[in-house]
Amino acid sequence: MGDKPLKVIGLAGEYRSSSKSGMLVNLALKIAKEQGADVEFWDLADRPLPLVGEEGCWTNPNVKAFQSLLEESDAFFLSSPEYHGTMSGVMKNTMDWMYDKHVGGKVFGLMSTLGGVTNANTLNHMRISLRWLHGWPVPEQLAIGHVKEAFDEEGSLVDEELHQRLSKLVSSVLSAAKKLR
Ligand SMILES: Cc1cc2nc3c(=O)[nH]c(=O)nc-3n(C[C@H](O)[C@H](O)[C@H](O)COP(=O)(O)O)c2cc1C
Repeated sequence: MGDKPLKVIGLAGEYRSSSKSGMLVNLALKIAKEQGADVEFWDLADRPLPLVGEEGCWTNPNVKAFQSLLEESDAFFLSSPEYHGTMSGVMKNTMDWMYDKHVGGKVFGLMSTLGGVTNANTLNHMRISLRWLHGWPVPEQLAIGHVKEAFDEEGSLVDEELHQRLSKLVSSVLSAAKKLR
């Protein structure tokens, strides 16, 4: 049991894996994979989640698949764009499909992307929602300001210091997830 690889899921608060949040989550997953984890990115463009409360949402097959995947997983990387000082509606709706029974006691690594100057609003707001889900976000976190200039053509972070912070965030999530599972 102790030797089984950790299962780690990536979620972005946007619909495209090519969005900046999608790129950031996939970079975190790449590092996690290099460190031995089994990783999967849930791409909302391929498997959209309905708006919570809309007609038919409670029996939507994507919701069932999403919640089963959450239950099977040990840890999660979340990245949201900052919209008007908080997480995107897409990220909040994604979190609204999570319940304590799926993610309670499991570890989260939080990231955000901003068009403007870096701040921690989105990260703090995600922490508040996760508290209601009994999730365990690690203290390390990453907000990327002026995100349009943050990635090179290969999808790596241009700023080496930010890359180091991302590596530390990933290591912290995997280490905490090993202890908590
Ligand atoms: C509706 C909306 C609101 C936004 N609000 C903010 C904001 O409050 N602060 C900020 O720095 N950037 C803001 N932005 C810019 C996004 O954070 C930025 O475009 C995103 O992180 C980058 O993702 P993308 O390039 O993949 O779309 C906003 C963008 C949109 C569309």
